[in-house]
Amino acid sequence: MSIMKIPIIATSVLAADFSHLAAALEDIDISGAEWIHLDVMDGSFVPNLSFGPKMVADLRPKSSSVFDVHLMTANPEALIKAFAQSGADYITFHAEAAVHVHRILGNIQELGKKAGISIVPSTPVSTIEEILPMVDLVLVMTVNPGYGGQVLIPQCLEKVKTLHRLRQERNYSYLVSVDGGINDSTASLVREAGADVLVAGEAFFKAPDKKALVGLLKGHAL
Ligand code: DX5
Ligand code: ZN
Repeated sequence: MSIMKIPIIATSVLAADFSHLAAALEDIDISGAEWIHLDVMDGSFVPNLSFGPKMVADLRPKSSSVFDVHLMTANPEALIKAFAQSGADYITFHAEAAVHVHRILGNIQELGKKAGISIVPSTPVSTIEEILPMVDLVLVMTVNPGYGGQVLIPQCLEKVKTLHRLRQERNYSYLVSVDGGINDSTASLVREAGADVLVAGEAFFKAPDKKALVGLLKGHAL
């Protein structure tokens, strides 16, 4: 049986023009992409800096899409409350950045938000196996986090297959999201591996026809 389904597209505003973010949200809205992916970088866990909860709060009234916050920060527990209050729907943090992962996931859910865990390319699925029953989303990084516009590392897709299989075997309910280097030529590999959510930054904002690009990422025939 094929495991392919039509994925949700989460557009990363990291690749947008930050001086025109409200316009970028409008472009996303009319493109058919369902989620807004918000990449938070702290200059410590990753070498780059992006934005904080005020940006998310300011964008919140401009869009009714799901806000999918990806924390690429050290000490994520210190930021959970601020991002919950900013209007995030999903809050995802890195397994590599936290010791008390179980507690932080619980904190996010107690605040009424969906809780996600992310792993960088060098981290195996076994690292997060104990908390899989409680997570709402697993974000598999297919590039080393910190920058948009990088090339997808295909070996990471084995982890997507593993997470898909574990969910079926054990009746878990998380979504599997894939982040980094997704474009019209890599999307089919990611869909075939069993991803539910495809994050796209540069591919989306560079596409002259954004609706057509979203269709290609979802695997619709032209
Ligand atoms: C990378 C970020 C990604 C990034 C994806 O550190 O987590 O979400 O914006 O960008 P593209 O699609 O350009 O690889
Ligand atoms: Zn991201």
